[in-house]
Amino acid sequence: MLNGKKILLGVCGSIAGYKSAFLVRLLVEAGAAVQVIMTEDATNFITPLTLSTLSKQPVLVQYYKTETGEWNNHVALGLWADLMLIAPVTANTMAKMALGLCDNLLTATYLSAKCPVYFAPAMDLDMWKHPTTQNNVKKLLSYQNILIKPAYGELASGLVGEGRMAEPKDIVDFLNQSLSKMLLLSGKKALVTAGPTYEPIDPVRFIANHSSGKMGFKLAEELANLGAEVTLISGPSQQETQNKNIKRININSAEEMLAQCLSYFPDTRICVMNAAVADFTPKNVADQKMKKQDISLTIELKPTVDILQTLGTQKKHNQILVGFALETNDGERYALDKLQKKNLDLIVLNSLADTGAGFKTDTNKVTVIDKELQKTVFKLKSKTEVAVDICRKIIELLPK
Ligand code: CTP
Repeated sequence: MLNGKKILLGVCGSIAGYKSAFLVRLLVEAGAAVQVIMTEDATNFITPLTLSTLSKQPVLVQYYKTETGEWNNHVALGLWADLMLIAPVTANTMAKMALGLCDNLLTATYLSAKCPVYFAPAMDLDMWKHPTTQNNVKKLLSYQNILIKPAYGELASGLVGEGRMAEPKDIVDFLNQSLSKMLLLSGKKALVTAGPTYEPIDPVRFIANHSSGKMGFKLAEELANLGAEVTLISGPSQQETQNKNIKRININSAEEMLAQCLSYFPDTRICVMNAAVADFTPKNVADQKMKKQDISLTIELKPTVDILQTLGTQKKHNQILVGFALETNDGERYALDKLQKKNLDLIVLNSLADTGAGFKTDTNKVTVIDKELQKTVFKLKSKTEVAVDICRKIIELLPK
């Protein structure tokens, strides 16, 4: 969740400031870019040198860099960030935030920030309980700031109670959970199929096709990046998944793919059938390896079940079903036919006639058509970008 995120970490003057060092370390380890802004008072508790070393960025304290007279642009900082975390935040800074006072770089940046702001208070228990502080917390929450509650325990004053800043690891867990809930497909289950199927002839031979699984894996990845809980049912493929929200199920034949799809589909909100499922499978599979003969060999094939069409007959009103049509000629006509026959919400047409589209390539060129026959023609793009485009089209179908 935090990988690649741009984080402004505000540090106020509290003994909990020593925890900021661990916090910066955890955020950087998670792949975030961290810009630390300290209040003047915070520098008495932990040095800017420590935090700049850990964040690999100069720490900002003043509006101006005194040596060069350069301005630390709080507006640009606020716009740069994906999220702002103020930890520890003191009762004093919370009061300023609640009132809109900006007498230092940290509070001015807070007022300029358009991103979600998290605040993790640290103070003595009576300061925390005081109605003024509690009213300020309420005010900050009403401005859509997000509270990371202080913990119960021994305080710097020697008293025991609520007021300790949450532990850095708990803050990072909190951020991860909170960010995942903000994603567009958070809480939604998705089912994606990918790759070819292998239809067995005998224990050593099979009928297959050229599908690499690349497009289906990219779709699974993008859906998971948008917060969906993804089940990926894949035929044999060298591709690998990255996002831990993808559960991969490996199958070989069309029959095995059908069985897995039927078991996952009822619980699925979004289903994207990208697999190149064999249309035919040998009628009889030899138990032993078939021996070479001088005469020609005829293998009788029977049709496989059309998985997508079967799911189309089971589809409930809140399920979104997306199919692919890989064509060599008359693409749009065949795609429309499949859209209707298989009861789909979207069909993604790709044509082997387009250079750079189809099997094994890292690029694809697709046309997406919805039930209302609205057509969007995309240009040739990387399969990652194509997955983003298709997911956008899926999101458009979800209730606002
Ligand atoms: N599909 C499926 N089960 C099959 C065959 C296809 O679920 N047995 C799905 C594919 O995953 C794809 C869509 O149906 O999403 C269209 O597949 P495609 O091979 O383009 O078309 P077919 O329906 O198989 O028709 P044809 O081969 O005649 O073009």
